[in-house]
Amino acid sequence: MIEPTPVEVRGLTFRYRRRQPPVLTDIHHRFEPATVTAITGPSGGGKSTLLYLIGLLLAPEQGDVVVGGIPAATGSDRDRSQMRSRTMGFVFQDAMLDPSRTVLANVMEGAVYTGMPADRRQSRARELLQELGIDHRAEHRPGEISGGQAQRVALCRALVKSPPVILADEPTGNLDTDAADLVWNILDQQARAGCTVIVATHDRARAIACTAHLDLADTA
Ligand SMILES: Nc1ncnc2c1ncn2[C@@H]1O[C@H](COP(=O)(O)OP(=O)(O)OP(=O)(O)O)[C@@H](O)[C@H]1O
Ligand SMILES: [Mg+2]
Repeated sequence: MIEPTPVEVRGLTFRYRRRQPPVLTDIHHRFEPATVTAITGPSGGGKSTLLYLIGLLLAPEQGDVVVGGIPAATGSDRDRSQMRSRTMGFVFQDAMLDPSRTVLANVMEGAVYTGMPADRRQSRARELLQELGIDHRAEHRPGEISGGQAQRVALCRALVKSPPVILADEPTGNLDTDAADLVWNILDQQARAGCTVIVATHDRARAIACTAHLDLADTA
């Protein structure tokens, strides 16, 4: 069973460099469980940055991220890292797999801090690789697979611990239509199971098909 975990951003403002204008200014939004929310906006508009802030990988200059009713800013770094590892699965725009480990080990790594036993992690990892049509690459290293395959491996790594919140940054950017359909179906399935799914995407048609939207062009 997935614990319904809304994610709320309250007044988020962020800049990478002090003297530069903010990348994001006063962003408010509530991301609901059992919903896929598309984050859209121009290239360089701050979609990835917002996902990093929601994923507690960056700290905002102002504002806060509230995950399942718990404000992230009030806790310690350790609290935030526990919040992240317990509740969030993150699919990075460029996969970010560990090049020294096999595809299977990369996927299993996604649940390493959850207390899930290794045999369960392995069987779940294999199941997901099969669902995404890349189980035949399980023993390969990331350098030996295609960019689109790496993206699907990154999705498997995010899903292996069955997180209540899934953050996916352009998860279908390198995929053909069939593989993209598969990924969007899996994200929909996760939402139907109760997950809060947040996807940054350039794909206008897919974004329109999502049940909820946050367009950063509207907030600029
Ligand atoms: N590490 C960084 N240091 C400084 N500036 C950065 C850094 N990362 C991103 N930026 C800048 O912040 C802005 C927002 O970048 P971000 O990657 O969030 O945009 P995006 O909407 O995800 O773009 P894309 O659609 O191209 O992926 C851009 O102007 C970018 O150049
Ligand atoms: Mg981006």
